[in-house]
Amino acid sequence: MKKIITIVGARPQIIKASAISRAIKNDFSETIEEKIVHTGQHYDENMSAVFFQEMGIPKPDFNLSVGSGSHGDMTAKMLSGLEEIFQKEKPDAVLVYGDTNSTLAGGLAASKIHIPVIHVEAGLRSFDKRMPEEINRITCDHVSSMLFSPTQQGVKNLKREGFDVEQRKTAELNQPMVFHCGDVMLDNSLHFANVVSNRENRLSTQWKDGYILGTIHRQENTDDPTRLLGILNGLKFIAEQGNTIVIPLHPRTKKLLQATQDLKSAMADIEKEGLIHFIEPVGFLDMIDLEKNASMIVTDSGGVQKEAFFFKKPCIIMRDTTEWVEIVNCGAARLVGANAEKIAKAYTDFKAKTDFEFPELFGDGNAGRFICQQILQYL
Ligand code: UD1
Ligand code: UDP
Repeated sequence: MKKIITIVGARPQIIKASAISRAIKNDFSETIEEKIVHTGQHYDENMSAVFFQEMGIPKPDFNLSVGSGSHGDMTAKMLSGLEEIFQKEKPDAVLVYGDTNSTLAGGLAASKIHIPVIHVEAGLRSFDKRMPEEINRITCDHVSSMLFSPTQQGVKNLKREGFDVEQRKTAELNQPMVFHCGDVMLDNSLHFANVVSNRENRLSTQWKDGYILGTIHRQENTDDPTRLLGILNGLKFIAEQGNTIVIPLHPRTKKLLQATQDLKSAMADIEKEGLIHFIEPVGFLDMIDLEKNASMIVTDSGGVQKEAFFFKKPCIIMRDTTEWVEIVNCGAARLVGANAEKIAKAYTDFKAKTDFEFPELFGDGNAGRFICQQILQYL
């Protein structure tokens, strides 16, 4: 029996973790024991608990309850809490997802005391180190023993950074192993899209004439009022073309939309005209339903831009760079930054375009199972 400690903390990690928890429950319950640590980075009911309830993820065995704070404060609290748990539990490995501060803390705390780190979503790069996520993912990759990349591009990035992506002798800190595994989020989207299709009173049916789905939360967009204003103006243009826009609003963005007088006035304007529907963050089942039934998606989220692709929706990415370059290269998504004119142009072009292609880039929906098999074979 291998004992794995999984670290979750932010919304997307809780969602990602469900794919491997499900694989363990269905196929590896005799060979892998999973314990879950929630760092407490996200804590609102609709940013955390809802996903455990809806997605069949076991209740966390530990909760560090670190809450919100600066990068340093949050990461420091996680590091000391995690180290204590790892020393007591003595797992065979620590499993971390993605690129948040919880990922960084899990990777650093485990590797420093020589516990192998398994990084799921390894190798992704935006090549913009001003993004906290880029620092987190690069650092975590370089302290990991098993690196699971969802894309071939991720494997290429790791090769360029000196990883021997072909070695299959041993998975160790000084000799890490790299795997191309497909995307655990595709596992989840396929699995839960089935669950959603049998649901009554689906949220998407509230907007009978159709809608465009949006999300905004990245630090580079929300912490800069000029960028946030650019985004609001771009979205306003799209709404003025006769579209309903539905935005489940991240708490970070909700707070920062009140930060300056310009933003407050822009919001008041949008709300007065009823152009955009801001709603509370939704659970994953509602989100899948909203994505599946949207005509287009506008987002700065890493996960949502990919889900747009899974559900064959054109996607306007409100970022300057993306680590999911494949979906931009095949024409299904466009990078527009926070520029209102570029957002408007992408909308107009996508509205007129009919020949979108969505090739199979993210595996076959069995990434969770594959990851468990490799852990058992090489750890
Ligand atoms: C974090 C990740 C980001 C990821 C996002 C997913 C880092 C550096 N960033 O960003 O990569 O895309 O999660 O959603 O790890 N807040 C609440 N309630 C909550 C959680 C947050 O009100 O349950 C508010 C707080 O005001 C907090 C702010 O949101 O200060 C930001 O939260 P934080 O976890 O620091 O970063 P995110 O923007 O959520
Ligand atoms: N998501 C959700 N409810 C929401 C917004 C997003 O369930 O109101 C899901 C979304 O489907 C995706 C994940 O959260 O699976 C993406 O997380 P987020 O956008 O917070 O972070 P990122 O992927 O950018 O790190």
